Amino acid sequence: MTDLFDFERRSLRFAVVGHPVAHSKSPRIHDAFARQFGITLTYEAVDLDPIAFEQGVRHLQAGGVIGINVTIPFKQAAYRLAETLSDRARAAQAVNTLAFLPDGKISGDNTDGAGLLRDLEINLASPLRGMRVLILGAGGAARGILKPLLSAQPNDLVIANRTASRARDLADEAGADSVQGIAFGELSGAFDLVINATSTSLTGGLPDVGEHVFKLGGLAYDLAYADQPTSFMRWAISSGAGKAVDGLGMLVEQAAESFFVWHQKRPDTRPVIDELRAGFR
Ligand code: ATR
Repeated sequence: MTDLFDFERRSLRFAVVGHPVAHSKSPRIHDAFARQFGITLTYEAVDLDPIAFEQGVRHLQAGGVIGINVTIPFKQAAYRLAETLSDRARAAQAVNTLAFLPDGKISGDNTDGAGLLRDLEINLASPLRGMRVLILGAGGAARGILKPLLSAQPNDLVIANRTASRARDLADEAGADSVQGIAFGELSGAFDLVINATSTSLTGGLPDVGEHVFKLGGLAYDLAYADQPTSFMRWAISSGAGKAVDGLGMLVEQAAESFFVWHQKRPDTRPVIDELRAGFR
């Protein structure tokens, strides 16, 4: 494969930008991936002023950084800044991976959905084909995972949101017969997989939906992660789900996808997920 970005001839400097970003695990993850291949790189966490995102990115580019991961709250700003976009970034309307091309142009990609899919289908051995899938939430996080989830051909995919109109709009945008957008109160039946894409876990809250959504023995997936099981995970298990996981696997998998974008090499994610999980204990 050709080295798209011709990184061999440039120094390997990378960064993750966010606000706040000090607790980001991305530097550890990318360092661990690089070690697997004997690659020497630097990867730093950079807190950017929300009113000067573009300036901050341009400053890093001028300083020789060649790839940037973008986290909250800058994924939409990165989408607007990128001069070329991958299909998956366009679908997500958000960018989490920027690459500075040798000609100075900025390309944008989004690896979040692919990361979730790999975690579900490979790490958790839960192929989505034929499943009933529920996404709770219709904000940026839900939009980012929608198209990749659909590509795995679930039987049906329901988006339920506190504000029903946002769920309907997102479903309309997806433009697939298997997708439906509804209010929490309209939910009926049980789902093989329930994904929490609301921001409720950040505050220890729960989306206001009935526990009937969890199929007995089904899978519950919280996009958020923490050193303890999240409120959503605990609730899912007490409601009958067979297994509840947080988004740590997705975090490492999206990083691996970004690593692939920059280095055209696919790291082994399992030891890195295990190492981060052990660090929580
Ligand atoms: P993100 O980028 O994390 O998705 P967002 O775009 O602000 O952030 O979306 C937050 C999501 O969490 C939305 O789906 C929001 O529901 P609304 O569209 O009704 O605002 C959902 N959310 C936030 N707090 C919630 C709560 N207490 N109960 C249920 N859903 C909640």
